[in-house]
Amino acid sequence: MKAKIVLLPGDGIGVEVLVAARAVMERVAELRGHQFHFEEAAIGGAALDTVGISLPEATLELCKQADAALLGAVGGPSWSHLRGSNRPEEGLLRIRQELGLFANLRPVPVFPALIDATPLKPHLLEGVNILVVRELTGGIYFGPRQEGDENQPATDTMLYSVLEVERIAHVAFLAARARQGHVTSVDKANVLATSRLWRRTVDRVAEDYPDVELRHLLVDACAMALLRAPAEFDVILTTNMFGDILSDEASMLSGSLGMLPSACLGEGRFGLFEPVHGSAPDVAGSGTANPIGAILSAAMLMRHSLDLEDEARAIEKAVEGTLSAGLRTADLCREGENHVSTRDFTEAIIRTLE
Ligand code: IPM
Ligand code: MG
Repeated sequence: MKAKIVLLPGDGIGVEVLVAARAVMERVAELRGHQFHFEEAAIGGAALDTVGISLPEATLELCKQADAALLGAVGGPSWSHLRGSNRPEEGLLRIRQELGLFANLRPVPVFPALIDATPLKPHLLEGVNILVVRELTGGIYFGPRQEGDENQPATDTMLYSVLEVERIAHVAFLAARARQGHVTSVDKANVLATSRLWRRTVDRVAEDYPDVELRHLLVDACAMALLRAPAEFDVILTTNMFGDILSDEASMLSGSLGMLPSACLGEGRFGLFEPVHGSAPDVAGSGTANPIGAILSAAMLMRHSLDLEDEARAIEKAVEGTLSAGLRTADLCREGENHVSTRDFTEAIIRTLE
């Protein structure tokens, strides 16, 4: 098949992990006879420095004409003094919003080869298979904001409409139906009005899915339960901010934040795919970044936007095979263990693909 894929490297290790993910996709195209046409565009701090805006119009246009986009990461210390709409992160928030990508799927891959790399006791990881479904274009990320100063307080505003909750709830219930049939909806309904509306709405949507079991959990209790009994979760349905926090926490079940992929989806086929990790300025440029989150995001791109399930599985199997062969990037190693570079790890994945 032919497909147009936009690459948005962004900042820090975003650049390095996209080189890796692109190499994997190019090899998949060769092996399976596809024509993937890649185009690179600026976003985040890199776009601020070159074009003066974190989401250039040209980037948005390119995405609108593409089948899918793959993003590295945005942000870093050189922009951390900036406020509001000048921040690199604003580019990422805006592209999600402009493209209507309200559903963020964040699966937590647990590879047997990495059980020792996690900080949890191995028996807790048996049977863990979690998908975080994070609402991505609403909530406190997008409500009116005021920076504040000596004279006036800073404010952030959390808004959720019934419609916003309904559509993300449907995504979660449908996903659960194809998995273990269990949704945990996470909110803070003992305090927040948005959470009480969230809970009522999720309860109503649940009536359409009598075959799916629903439980509600307060976010503080969920943060604890994720460490106490992670195997009790299937799909976690939650708001924009809680999903951001809980997915970083859940990444520790797979061994490293560098492992997690994600898909940002809307009503159509187009998706924006991104590793869950950030730009990691502390290791950027050292060639040690873990490319797995980005490579597994490329697999999700194949699956969700191009309908190439076999190719997606082939990539996932190659990652698993490489880990089983004992190769580790630095973030997956304990002190004294040997690690390989981003490039060597990627080459090993590509060899395993064949
Ligand atoms: C993520 C990131 C972003 C978010 C930041 C960079 C704006 O943390 O994708 O998880 O909070 O959504
Ligand atoms: Mg995050």
